Amino acid sequence: MLPIRTKKELQEIRSNLAPNSKIGLVPTMGALHSGHASLIKKAVAENKTVIVTIFVNPTQFDNEEDLQKYPTALHDDLRLIADVSPNIMVFVPTTSEMYQSNVIPKKYDFHGLDKVMEGEFRDNHFNGVGTIIETLFSLIRPDVAYFGEKDFQQLRIIQKMTEILKLPVKIIGCPIVRESNGLAMSSRNERLDPSLRLKAGFIYDTLVAAKQKFGTESVHNTKEWVDNEFENHPDFKMEYFEIADVETLTPAKRKIENIKYRGFIAVYANSIRLIDNIALN
Ligand code: PAF
Repeated sequence: MLPIRTKKELQEIRSNLAPNSKIGLVPTMGALHSGHASLIKKAVAENKTVIVTIFVNPTQFDNEEDLQKYPTALHDDLRLIADVSPNIMVFVPTTSEMYQSNVIPKKYDFHGLDKVMEGEFRDNHFNGVGTIIETLFSLIRPDVAYFGEKDFQQLRIIQKMTEILKLPVKIIGCPIVRESNGLAMSSRNERLDPSLRLKAGFIYDTLVAAKQKFGTESVHNTKEWVDNEFENHPDFKMEYFEIADVETLTPAKRKIENIKYRGFIAVYANSIRLIDNIALN
């Protein structure tokens, strides 16, 4: 499988596709794992043409070290994709191909969805995500695009962006895939040493216990309980745990009937930042 390297080549291939060829897009930053494989499999099952993009997008990183250390594994990625289906097309541009010399994100109004949680702690992150996704959508013009629920806030923001910009693409969220200890699959897990990776099952265990607590306890008590669990843990430093409305992502102060809530967490294991979330009701 030879990856497509340039926008020009991609656009030529795109314009030669039959007008009725349903196109599914799976945007990724590479270092693919079973979570990505689940998105790619779903795209293959639901579309005639599938395009996977692999691009570590610099405009969504607020931390140079995180960008520099982001894992890459193109050879393995291409094999994983070909194992799902040899007919998948893969677009692997360079930064200069994507941005020329203008490596700065566009500014978006995401109606406040970007002001909390990841948006609060990662300056400009969602402007960078919006910039690359809008560019990929305009180059590829997919019918459907697939995103993992591990980045639930990202998923809601991309849905909001397509709604605001009236982009003709359906956004599908896919369930989180977990390692055997419950740790949410992430390319960053590669950077954890094996013993810490094993211990990091604690993050999901805490979310599951928080869900149980939330059944009988208040928002405040559930949050306080999670804070305490991490305060007492020697290996992990919690950045935030938030209980938020799944639609607006507004952090909850108290439970309101008929609102669906999710618990969102960001944790540092040494310098490696891990995120996860769980449906609470
Ligand atoms: O979730 C990711 O891997 C990235 O944020 C995405 C959606 C591929 C945009 O660069």
